[in-house]
Amino acid sequence: MKIDFDSLRQLLIEDRSIRRFKGDKKVSMEMLRQLVELTRYCHSGRNAQPLRYFMVNDPDMCGKVFPALKWAGYFSDWDGPEVGERPVAYLIQCLDTKYGNDCMCDDGLQLEAISLGMRTLGLAGCIIKAFNVPLLAQTLEIEERFKPRYVMAIGYPAEEVVIEDMDGTPDADFKYYRTSDSVHHVPKRPLSELIIG
Ligand SMILES: Cc1cc2nc3c(=O)[nH]c(=O)nc-3n(C[C@H](O)[C@H](O)[C@H](O)COP(=O)(O)O)c2cc1C
Repeated sequence: MKIDFDSLRQLLIEDRSIRRFKGDKKVSMEMLRQLVELTRYCHSGRNAQPLRYFMVNDPDMCGKVFPALKWAGYFSDWDGPEVGERPVAYLIQCLDTKYGNDCMCDDGLQLEAISLGMRTLGLAGCIIKAFNVPLLAQTLEIEERFKPRYVMAIGYPAEEVVIEDMDGTPDADFKYYRTSDSVHHVPKRPLSELIIG
């Protein structure tokens, strides 16, 4: 199967972080398994493949995960999605410390694969680093050996997110923002700024 550059580029453009979801549309365990399966094919430092996933789609469990998460740090007056717009599933990415305490950049590579895979299934989500690790590990009874690194919040998107082109000036603001029409705007740097030398 030939995958063309434009399709990949378009998928990346559409794959924005989503923080508000259709609370009544469930995500099956089979879908979560499909997403984790994608990570098998990711590049891996030393090829150690030390990352594991805890899958959550049960509503009660989702309700227990949510309080451990911090949403949209730039929105000081927003505590995250309201009831009815919260994620309906989670993947908790954990490092199996049996293989050491460093996964190099495996974590990010796998999160990107999962995120793109979610989009192809009509899903969307948000990578979350700001979370209460001990609380989450305790809530989900995750074995000591597995260290939670990231949470991927998952659901069907219920918000509009658009890219805004930054102007490339040194002090251009990179903070995302939300306008009164509830649209979330994400500034992205121009190509000219990314290439140095
Ligand atoms: C490593 C990493 C950590 C992140 N942690 C959080 C987080 O804790 N909470 C949150 O709401 N968003 C988090 N995000 C989402 C970023 O805010 C988001 O990627 C950024 O605003 C750009 O938007 P985009 O993903 O649509 O390009 C994280 C993203 C990455 C890549």
